[in-house]
Amino acid sequence: MNRLLVFGREGQVGIELMSRAGHFGFELDGPARRQGDVTDAGAVEAAFARGHADAAVNVAAYTAVDRAESEVEAAFAANGQGAAIVAAAARRHEMPLIHVSTDFVFGDRPEKRPWLEEDPIAPLSVYGASKAAGELAVRAIQPRHVIIRTAGVFSRHRRNFVKAILAAAQEGRPLNVVDDQVTCPTPAGDVADAILVVARGIGEGGSAWGTFHYCATQAVTWHGFADAILGEYEGQGGARPRLTPVSSTVFGARARRPAYSVLDCGRIAREWSIEQRPWRAALPAIVAAIVKGASR
Ligand SMILES: NC(=O)c1ccc[n+]([C@@H]2O[C@H](COP(=O)([O-])OP(=O)(O)OC[C@H]3O[C@@H](n4cnc5c(N)ncnc54)[C@H](OP(=O)(O)O)[C@@H]3O)[C@@H](O)[C@H]2O)c1
Repeated sequence: MNRLLVFGREGQVGIELMSRAGHFGFELDGPARRQGDVTDAGAVEAAFARGHADAAVNVAAYTAVDRAESEVEAAFAANGQGAAIVAAAARRHEMPLIHVSTDFVFGDRPEKRPWLEEDPIAPLSVYGASKAAGELAVRAIQPRHVIIRTAGVFSRHRRNFVKAILAAAQEGRPLNVVDDQVTCPTPAGDVADAILVVARGIGEGGSAWGTFHYCATQAVTWHGFADAILGEYEGQGGARPRLTPVSSTVFGARARRPAYSVLDCGRIAREWSIEQRPWRAALPAIVAAIVKGASR
């Protein structure tokens, strides 16, 4: 296999996929958002018909978690119906599909242990529910699929938590960040690498279809992550703003998020030989790139 058809190439993970594919021996093809809206069955079909790819990758998504609470239709269109449209085209064109989903399909439970792929989902937000709808559609439509659930994606590109924290730091704004939600921040480049390893494995005859978790180590609260980002910023000569831990209730985000959102990544290690990496390893270069303005 040497050709992948990518939907969502202008997103955080998509940009990393485009820049890393060559290292894995892949050529990437795929429409920009304007020509390849996944809610447009005709546009998706045209991309498949043109592509001559060996597998399809869907990293296109509506990812504005709080805005989704009031834009329910848009979130479900992209994340639910869009996923179904891509899956149906992949099935028609006999292409395996790698689809990316989220830890936000899970809810809350009393015990604090990492989520397994088979744990029951119970999304707390519209975004989580729309991504869950996409997963269901992919499973029902294209049996030859790999769904990778990931978490807290960050990079030097687009909108993400690291960029928001650094923007506040550069403007000298004090920060309130929740300390009662645990996450596993994951560099977009690591997600892209995981997708490319799976794609390479499929090309070599791998057929461990199904749902997999992949996130970085170590689990941390959003406040702890903000503290690490500011530590890096300070280390690179920036001035640290005041950082205050707050509860989710005080913070008052529109969308509810799981309190303990840690993914067990054992299955992807066993089946696809993909090991977790520490998010701290990627942080210095990403902070430096954002501070220098080398982002979009
Ligand atoms: N970001 C996170 O923290 C996070 C966490 C867990 C899982 N994930 C999942 O990881 C995947 C990649 O996320 P990301 O962080 O790379 O997201 P991102 O940076 O928001 O990129 C998503 C891309 O999809 C595009 N898009 C939105 N609606 C579309 C549509 N209807 N048709 C075609 N393209 C559309 C967006 O275009 P516009 O810019 O024009 O909207 C954007 O280019 C997604 O499946 C997401 O759900 C993300």
